[in-house]
Amino acid sequence: MRKPIIAGNWKMFKTVSESTAFVSEVKGKAEVDGVESVICAPFTNLPALVEAVKGTSLKVGAQNMHWEENGAFTGEISGVMLKDLGVHYVILGHSERRQYFAETDETVNKKTHAAFKYGITPIVCVGEKLEEREAGQTKEVCRVQTEGALKGLSADQAAETVIAYEPIWAIGTGKSSTADDANEVIAYIREVVKGLYGEQTANAVRIQYGGSVKPNNVSEYMQQSDIDGALVGGASLEPASYIALVEGA
Ligand code: G3P
Repeated sequence: MRKPIIAGNWKMFKTVSESTAFVSEVKGKAEVDGVESVICAPFTNLPALVEAVKGTSLKVGAQNMHWEENGAFTGEISGVMLKDLGVHYVILGHSERRQYFAETDETVNKKTHAAFKYGITPIVCVGEKLEEREAGQTKEVCRVQTEGALKGLSADQAAETVIAYEPIWAIGTGKSSTADDANEVIAYIREVVKGLYGEQTANAVRIQYGGSVKPNNVSEYMQQSDIDGALVGGASLEPASYIALVEGA
């Protein structure tokens, strides 16, 4: 019922020409019936990527946006600008933005609302730090971040939001969460959505796992009851690896 979604988060990697070369390599291959395939790239690459994926089922996403439509916000990019480009998705609240760029649950929430205002689907990241995990606070952290991000959204908007559970200690470390552990937390996040919006919305919302997902472990996650895809950093950068991730889903 929920369409699996594989999203590559390129972070601060790739030039424009590297981006278009990537699409030439993956098109027709990282396109599998029944799986949504999204490339989330640096802002500078988005116009060329939107052009390059035309005629394919690949979608393009940004990695951040501001909540205001325009204004004196030097260095920022707004939802209306992304919409104008033809961008379909935006990653919001990634832990790297929370850690290095002062992103909070409140700003993530403002951005989530702004994304819907401009018809862009948010991929909202939640997840605990290592010390929070060790203190047994994983679920509580995920509950607070999920409730914070979704605050004030309608049930339809919540159902359309993609949530990415990314335990911070698993990002870029090669230490992935076990599929069972990830599924347990993701099932809990679905319970949180149920508490806010009811069962129908909870059953509709797609929740990805992210954190050292590779071609050789993606199918373990995908076999779990509550995991609907993956948000992938390092392993999404090479065409062959990205194709294998989409096929693995
Ligand atoms: O958003 C994806 C992410 O943070 C995971 O990165 O390199 O562990 O797949 P990576």
